[in-house]
Amino acid sequence: MSNPKPTFVTSNKGKAREVELIFRKHKLGLKVFYAETLEIQSGSLLEISVFRALQAQRMVGGPVFVEDSGLFIHSLKGFPGPFSSYVYRTLGVEGVLRVLGDKDRKAVFKSVVCYFDGLREMKTFEGNCQGKIAAKPAGKGGFGFDPVFIPAGQKKTFAEMSVEEKNRLSHRSQSVSSLCRWLYKVRRQRT
Ligand code: IMP
Repeated sequence: MSNPKPTFVTSNKGKAREVELIFRKHKLGLKVFYAETLEIQSGSLLEISVFRALQAQRMVGGPVFVEDSGLFIHSLKGFPGPFSSYVYRTLGVEGVLRVLGDKDRKAVFKSVVCYFDGLREMKTFEGNCQGKIAAKPAGKGGFGFDPVFIPAGQKKTFAEMSVEEKNRLSHRSQSVSSLCRWLYKVRRQRT
């Protein structure tokens, strides 16, 4: 029996580009469906992703997955965290730099992928990327907070890197690569 390609449901073209490259690297097929899903108010990326995966599956049918992520700044007690997309749209990068002021700049990007086959299998995968908030925005690539996030051990922001470079380090590449390895394993067991 052939394995249906999973559909990645997102409204974010930047995320889709990163996820497509990770699937290609793992030699796995993928479909992308651009759509907004409702985001519940929750302090947990895991809870948000499960709720979104159920909606996405009803929308598209077949096996689907979604990805939820956020920027957690330690000295701001994890702000903006699960509310990153709202804070990005309202305060923006400059607003977050103003809120941070001269406080400690350590931060972590977190990502949760939730896969649901529409029948009985639901799996979640996580990824973290430690780093710091830059003094000022730099770079034109990527999306969201990429211009102000410098991964640990690096000198450049995510926005100054190619997608391939970002994918070697990012929170999303960890969660999505874990999904790819799991899909590969499950498929081998079934053949
Ligand atoms: P959501 O997962 O669609 O709720 O959006 C997460 C938000 O966090 C995005 O809109 C960005 O503002 C931010 N974010 C998450 N991952 C990244 C990333 O890899 N680079 C830059 N910003 C990110």
